[in-house]
Amino acid sequence: MLAKIEQLLQEIEGLNAKNTEELESLRIKYLSKKGIINALMADFRNVPAEQKKEVGMKLNELKNRTQARFSELKEAFETQESNAVELDLTRTAYPIELGTRHPLSIIRNEIIDIFHRMGFTIADGPEIEDDWHVFSSMNFPEDHPARDMQDTFFIESHPDIILRTHTSSVQSRVMETSQPPIRVICPGRVYRNEAISYRAHCFFHQVEGLYVDKNVSFTDLKQVLLQFAKEMFGSQTKIRLRPSYFPFTEPSAEMDISCDICGGTGCAFCKYTGWVEILGCGMVDPAVLDANGIDSKVYSGYAFGMGVERITNLKYKVKDLRMFSENDIRFLKEFEAAN
Ligand code: PHE
Repeated sequence: MLAKIEQLLQEIEGLNAKNTEELESLRIKYLSKKGIINALMADFRNVPAEQKKEVGMKLNELKNRTQARFSELKEAFETQESNAVELDLTRTAYPIELGTRHPLSIIRNEIIDIFHRMGFTIADGPEIEDDWHVFSSMNFPEDHPARDMQDTFFIESHPDIILRTHTSSVQSRVMETSQPPIRVICPGRVYRNEAISYRAHCFFHQVEGLYVDKNVSFTDLKQVLLQFAKEMFGSQTKIRLRPSYFPFTEPSAEMDISCDICGGTGCAFCKYTGWVEILGCGMVDPAVLDANGIDSKVYSGYAFGMGVERITNLKYKVKDLRMFSENDIRFLKEFEAAN
């Protein structure tokens, strides 16, 4: 009997099964009521008394080893099965979904980069502003109809506190806390109370610029804007300045660039003019310099301001402004390559 147990012990050590069905039939063969081990147990009473101790111990060892081997094999099959569940061949090959930058952020960063290379630094300020920084310091007289140009959101019960309608408020904050030379750009979100449609929204983004120093002239302004247009839209881009009006600049102008769709010959995009408007600009009105603590007899300056949505539309031909704030992942994914 000892020899038989010894042989079984070896058998168990090398025991293997191809699948769970085979494992079950092996279990029945060895461990069930009518199995080999139980049969040995039954035979145990025929073992001579002097061998009982030794055989008993061996028999127990065999039983324990067999049970242990079966649990081992069972566990191996179970982990294989749970691995199989995770093997999903329809899963994407990319290990992680990468986010993409918002198109407005891409263009804003490009605008910032271009002016940064020309020596401008970034200035920041609050979106909830007071009337002084948005209007009064920018030469909008009290009750002047010019304030109606920008449909303002007021904070109820605090008529003096408003959502800024342009980032010129940041220019005012820079001027009141520093002296020339000043060369800043002010990117940020602005708010205007307009009916939402494909071409207008109640908020949008601007980058405004301000340069104040001794002997700053309109020529400087024109050259900086031409350089910007070429870097933003390509070296073949032309600009033209049309006279305009802003309370804070004198003289004021609006700048057009040559239409990059038709190359200036005229198409539906530029309404057959060959030109598209991209920004407002002008020489800072001396009254604005004085109101913000800068001596207009010593210094002069220029300012400009553009809508980031407008520039983005020109670059990417987005037809509906609302797309920018709807967070439709399919729209945002289209800009993956531009990141
Ligand atoms: N602040 C103007 C606007 O929001 C833009 C502008 C800035 C125009 C500076 C001229 C000079 O419309």
